[in-house]
Amino acid sequence: MYVSPLESFPSALLSLLLVMAVHSSRTISLCRSQNCGIPLQQSLKLTRLIHKESVELIRTYKASQGAMSELFCKSSSSEVPKPKISGLEPSERLVSVSSILQSFLPHFQRVLEQQTDLQSPSSRLLTELSNVRNRSTSLASVINCLYQNLFPNLPAPEPAEGPTQLPPPQNIFQQKVYGCVVLRRFKEFLLNVARELRTLKGRVCRRPPANAFFRR
Ligand SMILES: *[C@@H]1O[C@H](CO)[C@@H](O)[C@H](O)[C@H]1NC(C)=O
Repeated sequence: MYVSPLESFPSALLSLLLVMAVHSSRTISLCRSQNCGIPLQQSLKLTRLIHKESVELIRTYKASQGAMSELFCKSSSSEVPKPKISGLEPSERLVSVSSILQSFLPHFQRVLEQQTDLQSPSSRLLTELSNVRNRSTSLASVINCLYQNLFPNLPAPEPAEGPTQLPPPQNIFQQKVYGCVVLRRFKEFLLNVARELRTLKGRVCRRPPANAFFRR
């Protein structure tokens, strides 16, 4: 039977709508997924992607800070969050991941603001900074989702206690050093997160249902 394109259009539209509906309900149910591997895999993929981008970002950063950047990028700063994940239980360690990630976000914002004053508006550094900042915000929600999925009976991770300690006003040189410390520590943190998620996968996803396994 010949079906004119016009007649077949509604059914094509219907199947498109169905696909969209399935897709969106899948997104919504991700947080409640019974298969802990799905949000874990998603978090791990995103972590690896941001890590890769942050390697590139540091390269762009150094290239745009002028002379001596290799040298001053080796400095340290006590105001920047430490990348080390703490805790004994898998749930505690995931809370630690979440809170370190949250505490990096205002620092990223600060670096972005400082560099916005230092760079031309079309600079690649600004786009890359903004991109990594945005992706890290998404990672924070994916990690929270993962936590709720793995530990539905525990309270959701709280944002870090008290306001984040940001450095006092800095001169331009201090800003350049600070930016580099933030980016380097963040990159190191992402490596730790990726390792953590892989370990978690081995411990939590081995025997379903994961939730029962860790119920207190
Ligand atoms: C990051 O998010 C902000 C606000 O939503 C948006 O204006 C900006 O274009 C995004 N940056 C990139 C590189 O996608």
